[in-house]
Amino acid sequence: MCGIVGYVGRAEAMGTILEALGRLEYRGYDSAGMAVLNGRAIQVCKRTGKLKVLAETLRAKPLAGTVGIGHTRWATHGEPSEANAHPHTDCRGELSVVHNGIIENYAPLKARLLEQGHRFRSHTDTEVIAHLIEEYAKHAPLPSAFRRALKDLQGSYALCVLFRREPGRLFGARKGSPLIVGVGKGEALFASDVTAFLDRTRTVVYLNDDEVVELAAKGPTITTLAGKAVTRKSSTVSWDVSAARKEGYDHFMLKEIHEQPQAIEQTLFNRLDVGRRRIAFDRRTQRFLDRISAQEKIVIIACGTAYHAGLVGEYMLEEFARLPVDVDFASEFRYRGPMLDRRTTVIAITQSGETADTLAGVRLAKRKGANVLAICNVMGSSIAREADAVLYTHAGPEIAVASTKAYTAQLTALLLVTLALAKAHGRVRPEAWKRLLAELGRLPDLVRQALATEPALEEIAAKYARARNFYYLGRRYNYPSALEGALKLKEICPLIHAEGYAAGEMKHGPISLIRQGWPVVFVAPRTPVSEKVISNIEEVRARRGTCLVVASEGDDDISRYADSLVRVPRTDELFSPVLVAVPLQLLAYHIARANECDIDQPPNLAKSVTVE
Ligand code: M6R
Repeated sequence: MCGIVGYVGRAEAMGTILEALGRLEYRGYDSAGMAVLNGRAIQVCKRTGKLKVLAETLRAKPLAGTVGIGHTRWATHGEPSEANAHPHTDCRGELSVVHNGIIENYAPLKARLLEQGHRFRSHTDTEVIAHLIEEYAKHAPLPSAFRRALKDLQGSYALCVLFRREPGRLFGARKGSPLIVGVGKGEALFASDVTAFLDRTRTVVYLNDDEVVELAAKGPTITTLAGKAVTRKSSTVSWDVSAARKEGYDHFMLKEIHEQPQAIEQTLFNRLDVGRRRIAFDRRTQRFLDRISAQEKIVIIACGTAYHAGLVGEYMLEEFARLPVDVDFASEFRYRGPMLDRRTTVIAITQSGETADTLAGVRLAKRKGANVLAICNVMGSSIAREADAVLYTHAGPEIAVASTKAYTAQLTALLLVTLALAKAHGRVRPEAWKRLLAELGRLPDLVRQALATEPALEEIAAKYARARNFYYLGRRYNYPSALEGALKLKEICPLIHAEGYAAGEMKHGPISLIRQGWPVVFVAPRTPVSEKVISNIEEVRARRGTCLVVASEGDDDISRYADSLVRVPRTDELFSPVLVAVPLQLLAYHIARANECDIDQPPNLAKSVTVE
């Protein structure tokens, strides 16, 4: 999705903003632009395509000045073009705006502004904001006009505004879309994502919805939309800037796949104590979990990969903690009138903590009196702050659009919650408890071993790289693994259609497509239903499909049915989704690589989906 940067300080704004926008490239975008104030006028430069096109133009004709705003745009209203790229300006060049989100009432606002004589240059919803401020500024000072304009906007926004007549300051506001302030030495920044300015400062100030910020080099002054002063402490981000660099890997995705053992260790850190046979959480989360009764209903909401983690969580929580669980796409949950009350626990799973549908689901759940636990990776994100308790996955920044380490960290967090609840509700015997905790503690090592499948997968990927359709099949805990494997492949290799199914569903329709050579990936670690999976493999082979099997080490029964085979360490079914995720990610990665796809930034996709 779009990225926002604003800079005010002593350094040249152009270079600083370009670097920061570079760190937001991973979010996905189709055009970029910036506006810099040179003391007399606001100079704007915009280009379609990659950021390097903008950088080349700016190198030839630099914009001088120490205050400015920048943007990477992911088109929603109006095609990707220079005119539609941000920043947008008013009629007279008095101000410039960058915006993330969607202004839902832009059409009536635009009609009104056109009648009042404003001239529009783009087809975006954003441009109305510039003209609206200009209109109100006819009768009020600019900062008041900004506040007045915000009151007219419906929808979601993170905004950054540069005024020609306010040289040492930027203005910002947020509602439903992330905007963060970074405070450095003699400089301050706005960004939609903390990774944008990690190299300049790790001191951040998180903003809430309906807050307005005046940003000077010494820091922010925050007020509510109604003009009331807000006191907000700064926080320190623990992420290191090196975590947001490729560090020798060809792609962020590959780096993040290999970071999974550490990511899982970080999720378990300070929570799992194998020696003392204990799982414990920070005080707030522990209190939250202690309140969950054995009669509680659990609803998990999430999108995309996080939704697949939620589906695995359903198997875990129902089987081990014996709690009834529903899992919903956040985008469906919020529109289907879910039945929730004080005895419902909603678990919102999200890497970014900013996914618009998940955030709306959290707000709906809270309005209905449910208790909300977030499983989230990004500290200080909107969902983390709005939930009643948060279990951070601590997987470190995930830059590649395709989620990998965040997924296995989410599974690990769900394992912790499941086992803690199973213990609290007396659902697990002491011997089993001891064994399960020991196995959970071994997960990082088991994932390290699973990573050793990479050379084999590279070869397998070369063999299947020309195929254009794949099925992924699994059962029980690994049915969601099949969905996730298919999502990984179609996401980063848009030439390929991949579909995940519950293996038992195959003969209810999808099998009709199987023909000679059609690749079917069986996610089939050793489980109590392995025999059933073997029958499904037989059915595919009978139709001359090609079977690529992800099996457990030592499982010779299944191996003999495989055209291609990779093995992951043997473990309980409960933990197996974490292990099988690794070869499925690597398979997708190497197939995409063989097809020369843009792996970290697949076309049309964005890292964090902050619009509905
Ligand atoms: O940040 P979130 O976990 O809320 O994001 C949810 C999905 O948008 C995300 O998982 C998406 O499906 C990934 N690109 C999948 O790899």
